[in-house]
Amino acid sequence: MPVKKIGILISGSGTNLQSLIDEINKGNINGEIAVVISNKKEAYGLERARLYNIDTVFINEKKYESFELFNEAIIAELKSHEIDLVVLAGYIKILSHKFVEEFKNKIINIHPSLIPSFCGKGYYGIKVHQAAIDYGVRISGATVHFVDEGADTGPIIFQEAVKVSDSDTAETLQKRVLVLEHRLLPLAVKMYCEDRLYSEGRRVVIR
Ligand code: GRF
Repeated sequence: MPVKKIGILISGSGTNLQSLIDEINKGNINGEIAVVISNKKEAYGLERARLYNIDTVFINEKKYESFELFNEAIIAELKSHEIDLVVLAGYIKILSHKFVEEFKNKIINIHPSLIPSFCGKGYYGIKVHQAAIDYGVRISGATVHFVDEGADTGPIIFQEAVKVSDSDTAETLQKRVLVLEHRLLPLAVKMYCEDRLYSEGRRVVIR
């Protein structure tokens, strides 16, 4: 089976990116990271990628006249690397209609809650965990899913839960959920790269 070429979009520290780099380097994933793209120049994830000689690109939204043109620039970069799979690993922007069309069923996102709770527009980073704490939920978790037109609405690949205790803060919850994320995202990418994920309507079947 040919090795899948992966393009990763980030906006921040890139610990999820690191988990993918580590699993690939251990030989556990039939894929290679061809490019890491960030919409933030200072994203530490770019540093992480450079340490492993992975191509990195900063795409500055301000340089483009519209959101669509900004997305076109990302699409062009991914295409120039002949990407088979796009992974959103802490990428905080939504994708344009054209982007989702262009890479239909080839985009995976990690979200730090149990979708459909605490997800969608405005729910990113620590805000997700603060919302879970403020609501008073007793469990939260992580979700890996395919990306469709909506925000965090695509078919779910994996989910796992953590208990929320009385003493939890958004920060302590975030830490525990990240541990799950670092396991679930590489697992989903591994399955994808082995052609083991099949969408049947909203359900993802693993073969
Ligand atoms: C993670 O919690 C991810 O689920 C969310 O943003 C955070 C990014 O963390 N979308 P990192 O940049 O991978 O460290």
